[in-house]
Amino acid sequence: MPSPGAGPAISAPAGLDLRPIRPEEQRAYSTLMRRTFGASLPTDEELAAARETTEFDRTLAFFDGPEIVATAGIFSYQMTVPGGALPCAGVTRVGVLTTHRRRGLLTAMMRRQLDDIHERGEPLAALYASETVIYGRFGYGLATYQAAVELERSHAAFAAKVPSSGRLSLVDVPTAVSAFTRIWEQARRNQPGMLGLDERWMRYQLTDLELHREGASPHYRALYQSDGNPSGFAVYRLKLDWDASGPNGTLRLESLIAATAEAYAALWRYILEVDLMARVSAEMRPVDEPLRFLLADSRQPKTRIEDGIWLRLVDVAAALAGRRYAVEGRLVLRVRDEFCPWNAGSFELTGGPTSAECHRTDASPDLELDAADLGALYLGGNRFRTLQEAQRVNEVRSGSVARADAMFAIDRAPWCPSHF
Ligand SMILES: CC(C)(COP(=O)(O)OP(=O)(O)OC[C@H]1O[C@@H](n2cnc3c(N)ncnc32)[C@H](O)[C@@H]1OP(=O)(O)O)[C@@H](O)C(=O)NCCC(=O)NCCS
Repeated sequence: MPSPGAGPAISAPAGLDLRPIRPEEQRAYSTLMRRTFGASLPTDEELAAARETTEFDRTLAFFDGPEIVATAGIFSYQMTVPGGALPCAGVTRVGVLTTHRRRGLLTAMMRRQLDDIHERGEPLAALYASETVIYGRFGYGLATYQAAVELERSHAAFAAKVPSSGRLSLVDVPTAVSAFTRIWEQARRNQPGMLGLDERWMRYQLTDLELHREGASPHYRALYQSDGNPSGFAVYRLKLDWDASGPNGTLRLESLIAATAEAYAALWRYILEVDLMARVSAEMRPVDEPLRFLLADSRQPKTRIEDGIWLRLVDVAAALAGRRYAVEGRLVLRVRDEFCPWNAGSFELTGGPTSAECHRTDASPDLELDAADLGALYLGGNRFRTLQEAQRVNEVRSGSVARADAMFAIDRAPWCPSHF
């Protein structure tokens, strides 16, 4: 059960009304979002697709008279954490109309959301940030990274032959929805940061909107099966081009998810062998992508590291007790949390590979830090040592940073391959 109490009251600007939208207000809600991002207005097809995943009772909109001037929303996810999975509120569709900016509308929506998430007992909240300066004040910390990669096909030979006894096929949407959902579920068990996607969500991910094609082909959906079991998939588009020396196309890889090492290698080899393509480009890839070590030229995946998700521990004790730790250990953390004061104070964490407990304590702390920084550290994607060197973690008792890093260590970089 969450600890009682809401955060400091924040009054919405006078004359504005904040409430969830009704289904018939979806177009106005989506239009506001598109306008804040300078994008085209939503089509009927896009609205129909979005309706499948929208949780109307978890939407929020500020109304100025009849007009929507700010929006936010939440998806109810499960997030894989080291050694388990926890409920996680996926914060989305945040926008404030330019005419109403910097009057506290975002702050009021964040207040309403975090109180609601806390009341529902969801220990985590996550989001993708358009700008890095926005969400730290609300207790979100940068918890995962992702890579944008580009490979020249002419230099992308495998270092050695990889064994592959499976079968690759291009599949239609209904087959993909069911097979890809199963693969996703298997893959996410051991991948901290990954969100659970049911068939409804997979169907949404596979919706092939014109808006997303940007001059490239419709989706290709490749399924890899081993002994009749689906174990990996890739979704991509082709963008053909020709120059004086011949075909110069780009394969845009939107998703490659594998539940086994064999499926992973077979799918990458397939992607790198599509004819007429000069290069492969992909975004939202894991930063510890094994591909580099499959290729003869390990410099070939030219990589740019970007922000992944920002994570907020809405209930510090439940979140810390809800993951497992690489080695047995005990830590007392003193947490500062102005926006969610129910988290402020000292917590004693005792945990290891098979169990963990976390309680409030009066014991003197080993480490002191802000809730946002604990969010950045939680999945193991950043090291306590790094944040100590950035003067964000204060080591009160000598040796605690090394102990914390040993406990929070994970064997895969956290990665969130789905957008929301
Ligand atoms: C980002 C955005 C939602 C902020 O909404 P807002 O209602 O203006 O935010 P608030 O008035 O509640 O601001 C709260 C604080 O954050 C600061 N802040 C908010 N957005 C900021 C930004 N983009 N850059 C710098 N500071 C920002 C404000 O200055 C204010 O600081 P203060 O408390 O010290 O005065 C709004 O500018 C927007 O819609 N931007 C375009 C779409 C977008 O980026 N959405 C976010 C998607 S993840």
